[in-house]
Amino acid sequence: MQTLSSVSAMQSFAAGLRAQGKRIALVPTMGALHEGHLSLIRLAASRAEAVIVSIFVNPTQFGPSEDFSRYPRELEADLAKCAAAGALAVFTPAVEEIYPKGYSTFITEEAVARPLEGVSRPVHFRGVTTVVAKLFNLIRPDLAVFGQKDAQQVAVIRKMVADLHLGVEIVAAPTLRDPDGLALSSRNRYLTLTQRADALALSRALRRAQEMVAHGERRVDRLVAEATHLLAQHRRVRVIYAAIVDRDTMETVREVRPGQTILALAAWVDEVRLIDNEIL
Ligand code: PAF
Repeated sequence: MQTLSSVSAMQSFAAGLRAQGKRIALVPTMGALHEGHLSLIRLAASRAEAVIVSIFVNPTQFGPSEDFSRYPRELEADLAKCAAAGALAVFTPAVEEIYPKGYSTFITEEAVARPLEGVSRPVHFRGVTTVVAKLFNLIRPDLAVFGQKDAQQVAVIRKMVADLHLGVEIVAAPTLRDPDGLALSSRNRYLTLTQRADALALSRALRRAQEMVAHGERRVDRLVAEATHLLAQHRRVRVIYAAIVDRDTMETVREVRPGQTILALAAWVDEVRLIDNEIL
């Protein structure tokens, strides 16, 4: 497996793959890789001959009071995991490679990015779309794989790809969960055992909503009320949002349309911010 850290080396490597007629899949990550990321790499490997993983803790998607400086960084372990999962190359640029001094061009998607995460993290998606567009431009992958756990991120990136005619297929991989239901996330490591126990309220609320929909419930207010009630039973959990939205536009809906509607949750568990969602 190759490790490339400069933009020019990455561009030449990807151009070489294209010249050989290889189909390229990109898996963009911020490192601190867990089984969820590895499932994205494996899915990518099943869809393309050449899998490139990027590991870049992207400063522009963190707000001023967020965890950019303490975001976990463990490159050596990540590289070993990428190799084992079937990556051909890993792109590990330094911040100055992606945002050299004087950098001033950003991409904003202005509809899908507005609600939910967009309200509480106003700069987040601008940073995500900018870095993902840059990765797409320099690697020019045929497809890119993202986790459905970040449902709004997937929807925003799909919209950017459509609006800018980027011609990259966006594949969303199912959320992986621990056996107790907690969605895998690099931020789970911030949780103490007691906080982790309370964090399970999110997946329980999602499961309950899925059960209610399976039993015929379609009323959004009932489903949101039940989810909020379940979350409120835990002292450490403070709900940021609990919303039933269209999975493509992230707009709130009047009624659940099975398969097209998600319940999206964000909550603080003490000082740890978690998000989760499920398709209803
Ligand atoms: O989901 C993530 O890890 C990041 O938002 C991404 C897509 C790698 C962009 O920095």
